[in-house]
Amino acid sequence: MAHTIVVFGASGDLTSRKLVPALYELHRKGRLAEPTRIVGFARTSFSHDAWRAKLAESTARFVGGHFDRATWDAFSPSLFYQAGDIGRPESLAELGKFLDELERGEAATRVYYLATAPQFYEPAVVHLGKAGLAEQSQGPRRIVIEKPFGFDLASARELNRVVHRVFSEEQVYRIDHYLGKETVQNVLVLRFANAIFEPVWNRNYVDWVEITAAEEVSVGHRGGYYDKAGVLRDMFQNHLLQQLALTALEAPARFEADFIRDEKVKVFRAIRPMRPEDVAANTVRGQYRGYRNEPGVAAGSRTATFAAVKLLVDNWRWQDVPFYLRSGKAMSCATTQIVIQFRRPPHILFEGGPKSVREANRLVIQIQPAEGIQLHFQTKVPDAGMQMRLTDLSFRFQDKFSGGMPDAYQRLLLDVMHGDASLFARADEVEVAWGIIDPIQAAWDAGNAPNLSVYEPGGWGPEEATHWMYGQGRQWFDVCPVLQ
Ligand code: BG6
Repeated sequence: MAHTIVVFGASGDLTSRKLVPALYELHRKGRLAEPTRIVGFARTSFSHDAWRAKLAESTARFVGGHFDRATWDAFSPSLFYQAGDIGRPESLAELGKFLDELERGEAATRVYYLATAPQFYEPAVVHLGKAGLAEQSQGPRRIVIEKPFGFDLASARELNRVVHRVFSEEQVYRIDHYLGKETVQNVLVLRFANAIFEPVWNRNYVDWVEITAAEEVSVGHRGGYYDKAGVLRDMFQNHLLQQLALTALEAPARFEADFIRDEKVKVFRAIRPMRPEDVAANTVRGQYRGYRNEPGVAAGSRTATFAAVKLLVDNWRWQDVPFYLRSGKAMSCATTQIVIQFRRPPHILFEGGPKSVREANRLVIQIQPAEGIQLHFQTKVPDAGMQMRLTDLSFRFQDKFSGGMPDAYQRLLLDVMHGDASLFARADEVEVAWGIIDPIQAAWDAGNAPNLSVYEPGGWGPEEATHWMYGQGRQWFDVCPVLQ
């Protein structure tokens, strides 16, 4: 069946930086259905050709070495542009007419991609409904909603209500682009396509789990958005909690969207709600020096650009195993990693150790940028008595597979077109995730401790985070990945 993708917010950054490059790559690899038409929709007026010319330049920039003029020339006739205002029902009716003409009355799968600012999600959905564009007699109609899905639990619930008045849940694809990353999906492969990890993947062997998403970049030109959101809404409610869910969940009975999402929701439901009086002891927050001078940021802003949060998953597998989640901007390097820190051996036979849990086994799942997995273990140092050292077995995707890592959006776009929602968040999932974050954010907003510490860019966040972890009898795995 033909595919039609309508991108709302077509003149925005996401469209030129991620969506169109991903579609170009899918075309280059021969993965798009014949025909696939891509329609940009935004207020700025463009002719089809002017939009194509603009995208040729940005796509060349963002796909780098994979860009090839002849391939682009074969791809670009499938790009179209329709100017309109998402806030005006007439514009959506006109869009409907344009799509019908383009599809020549034939059945097609339509994907409406909301890449607009979040305040336009509701009017877009309402007007799509009024224009009859959610109706499925001429083929499936799907809607993709970018993050942030809501600003807190109440607004996410309201958005779900609005969306469900027009689209059934099966038609809705809520994006968390981390789920499109190969290495995030590989967490499930590591756990459930192997038999050796699962027997030790529990409270009997695991001391703690650490999930870090450190970014070297600052907020840059996104200060206006970021200052209202902050790190909990920007990174924790979605990307970090999704990684926690995949690390902690039980094996789904089948590899299908609802089976996987049911297990994720069970994990979220098992997370111990943070009581206001516990927030000071269980969280650290910081703001990098210079943040208040970024464009769009309020002069006296108290928005956190760094957070560390300790969560407990109250179930049989994970009781008393802390999950430490940490993310920050302007950090020492870009690295996203999941660290499974195992316990020390029950009986220490050797004088040399391992002396502390830091010297015990550790599995480091490098989500990015040095995608891979390392298993750390003790080894005898040759010719040195019974001296030991922590060494590692290291797997790197780039050593074993050619072709490089595709951008997450390629996989996600393909899945929407094929109707596979496994890598998208369900309505209840988004809501329970907000339910975990809201109490922390509320305590912070109420000015409750912890202090907002200022940290120097280029390190591992505020010193408090380091001391806090020592106070837990533990230590962060602060290692920048080696890029070859
Ligand atoms: C986005 C956040 O969702 O994820 C950004 O809004 C963040 O603040 C980005 O920089 C990180 O994504 P990635 O794929 O670069 O790790």
